Amino acid sequence: MRRAYIDSIGMYVPPKIVTNKDLEAMMDTSDEWIRERSGIHERHHVDGECTTDLALKAAEEALEKAGMTAEDIDHIIFSTMASDYFAPGGGPMMTRRLGIPGTPAVDIRMACSGFLYGLSIAKAFIESGAYDNILLITSEVQSVALDFSTAGRDTAVLFGDGAAAVVLKPTDEQRGIQSIVTHSDGRYAEDLMLRSPSTLDNPFQSHEILDKGHGKVTMNGRSVFKHAITKFPQVIKEALEAAGVEKSEVKLVVPHQANLRITEAVANRLDLELHKVVYSNIHKYGNTTSASIPIAMYEALAEGRINRGDIVVVASFGAGFTWGASVIQW
Ligand code: UT7
Repeated sequence: MRRAYIDSIGMYVPPKIVTNKDLEAMMDTSDEWIRERSGIHERHHVDGECTTDLALKAAEEALEKAGMTAEDIDHIIFSTMASDYFAPGGGPMMTRRLGIPGTPAVDIRMACSGFLYGLSIAKAFIESGAYDNILLITSEVQSVALDFSTAGRDTAVLFGDGAAAVVLKPTDEQRGIQSIVTHSDGRYAEDLMLRSPSTLDNPFQSHEILDKGHGKVTMNGRSVFKHAITKFPQVIKEALEAAGVEKSEVKLVVPHQANLRITEAVANRLDLELHKVVYSNIHKYGNTTSASIPIAMYEALAEGRINRGDIVVVASFGAGFTWGASVIQW
């Protein structure tokens, strides 16, 4: 059977580090509150770079590690919640940045589940034989749409900017993506959103709309938290069942890095040992939306926590709501 496997990963975060102490100077918050409630110590923010700048760096590293050039890519899948332009999307822009005009590219806006949805599209493309070499890029610049006043503190402290890219290829071996399960539920759209520009308004952007704060990310943190800690374990169980894999066979779980308390609750509910089986690097990057899983995988690989043959589970939950999980044999 033809399967899709991840051949290489690249990542890039902008060099500017914003610590919790730095945030204390902008709003009524404290390093202690942020660490205790989220596990985050610092995050990276852009300082003039745009979404495709980060994406290009991550993509170049992934291509180099795969021993490929951009010309070898048959299809781009681009995941972001903040393209360089509101329209067109970042996928076509990446053909320009990579110097491969004419290459098909698709944009996905699935928030924190963008990597999972991107994997599911790549899996279908590769297993069907439609394409061989897929470049899945996740690149997120949230810092430009956060409210760094005290009014926005519950959201602004959580997010960071960053990008990752993976090259997926076909294989006839047992390795690769064994299962993917994805879900969405629009009933909770307003619990985590960036309201404008919106077709609910005509014209869809105005000073009045911006004055209302509709150009900033808003969140009902408690609702997101409550749903995340039930949906994460459920979807991981579904993906394991779909792959016919036992929990005891899993070498590493790499969840979307939303909040260390969510990760801890998920580990508890699945009865997994957090520090042995569940990967976390949220202290360094905060929540980088769809880039967080491949950034965490990149670091887990570099640390020797993932090796050839290992069963790895990736899982996400985020705005939409959207959630998903995948079982991957490395
Ligand atoms: O990919 C998904 C992305 N989103 C998430 O994963 C977010 C999920 N939710 C969460 O992680 C948590 O709900 C938060 C970290 C956002 C908030 O933690 P919490 O324990 O649910 O706090 P809370 O909302 O119940 O707020 C407790 C207090 C409030 O003050 P009062 O009303 O008790 O006086 C907040 O105003 O903490 C206050 N607060 C802050 N204080 C200092 C909220 N944000 C901050 C802050 N610094 N940054």
